[in-house]
Amino acid sequence: MGFEPLLCDCNLYDLSPDLDKLEMLFIKENPGSLILVSVLGLIPDMFTIKRLCNEYDVVLIEDVCESMASTYWGRNLGTFGTVSVFSTYFGHAISTIEGGFVNTDEDEFVGYNLIVP
Ligand SMILES: Cc1ncc(COP(=O)(O)O)c(C=O)c1O
Repeated sequence: MGFEPLLCDCNLYDLSPDLDKLEMLFIKENPGSLILVSVLGLIPDMFTIKRLCNEYDVVLIEDVCESMASTYWGRNLGTFGTVSVFSTYFGHAISTIEGGFVNTDEDEFVGYNLIVP
């Protein structure tokens, strides 16, 4: 799809992006989107990440595959991003053997069916 992946170092507290390094990356590389993985139920600092994404005009894509039903200040992960992705592969909290789903409240994306063979 023409994306160029950029990697950001993580912090050792919750294994999400190191926020100083993330901001430097936003300033230097001007990325269009951030794919944020919440690793094994560990919760990133969602307020700061959301603020940085808003400030630098970066679309937040939450990968909640490993943290389904986790909350941050009472709000479910997967409700902060423009788009959120969940996996229901058998190793995850809710399983359909294989599968997953995408979550969004962006009108622009609603109604699309994405079927990956
Ligand atoms: C964080 C994360 N993202 C994406 C995936 C991919 O999910 P799937 O195997 O359903 O494509 C996994 C799978 O374990 C995952 O842990």
